[in-house]
Amino acid sequence: MSRHSIRRLLVGLCTLTAASQAVTAVALAVPADKHRAAYSAAQALSPQTLSDLTTAMKGEGFAYASYNLYGAQADREGQPAVGKLFRTTAQTELNEHLHEAATLAGAVGTDAANLRQAINGETYEHQVMYRGFADQARKDGDLEAAKLFSEIAADEGRHRDAYRTALMVVTTGRGTVPAPPKAGMVPVSAGLPKVKAARTKANLATAMHGEGFAHASYMLFAAHAEQNGNPALARLFEGTAGVELHEHFAEEAVLAGLVGTTKDNLSKSVTGEHNEATNLYPGFAERAAAVGDTAAATYFRDTADDEAKHAAAFQQALNQMP
Ligand SMILES: [Fe+2]
Ligand SMILES: [Fe+2]
Ligand SMILES: [Fe+2]
Ligand SMILES: [Fe+2]
Repeated sequence: MSRHSIRRLLVGLCTLTAASQAVTAVALAVPADKHRAAYSAAQALSPQTLSDLTTAMKGEGFAYASYNLYGAQADREGQPAVGKLFRTTAQTELNEHLHEAATLAGAVGTDAANLRQAINGETYEHQVMYRGFADQARKDGDLEAAKLFSEIAADEGRHRDAYRTALMVVTTGRGTVPAPPKAGMVPVSAGLPKVKAARTKANLATAMHGEGFAHASYMLFAAHAEQNGNPALARLFEGTAGVELHEHFAEEAVLAGLVGTTKDNLSKSVTGEHNEATNLYPGFAERAAAVGDTAAATYFRDTADDEAKHAAAFQQALNQMP
């Protein structure tokens, strides 16, 4: 599938959203069928290509969240043009790169399938990932990080429970979808890392990639639920997405010292984009082409080209900084 046909598919899905609001009875059946048809090709992808698409989505979700924070920092430094560059680039990472990878990977299914996926992710984060990260941080003397990881582990348990209840409502038609959690906005200003151990820093990076991915996935699941005539479920996904981004990602970003001065942020972004453009995505494209996953190979190549443009734009902004 070419990049243009993927875009057409996404536009088509949006059109279906609008149509479903107008003609509820028809829309309840049509979008689900369309989804099955549109995403059935994903099952033929090799496991390696699927894994690379997931890595791509995590990187893109991380870039989206980071660039929005970098944009706010540029505004605070009186650099609104740089702020705008970060925000428009963030939109490309989410609305094009991440969404196209999600389409290719068949990441969005029925409401029930999306809830099961969300429950699996939250269960892993609650029971395994954040508890393990908290233990490691405690052993390494990073007590603030240990406390945060434990608090987030508890939040993920609540997310899992709400999704489980919602799944019961969706599959049995009985009960009520839980009210969405309310996300507080955690401010992230420029600052140094507040953790010492290399292991805690690596775990924070993994955690932020997971949070960025969870945020983006839940927003896609919310759009599907809305289109499927299930606004209460859409609100639950959106509210949870807000917690992943505005609380979890933001709190982790503060501890990691993710945001620096605008000069530092630009320089870090050039390095990241350059790596994606010349190393990560070309490697994924080669692997996908070798196993005949041609649509994915095209996606990876096109995305590498975009990232080269991002690197150039950030470099130019850096050169123009006073
Ligand atoms: Fe990207
Ligand atoms: Fe969560
Ligand atoms: Fe989270
Ligand atoms: Fe980029």
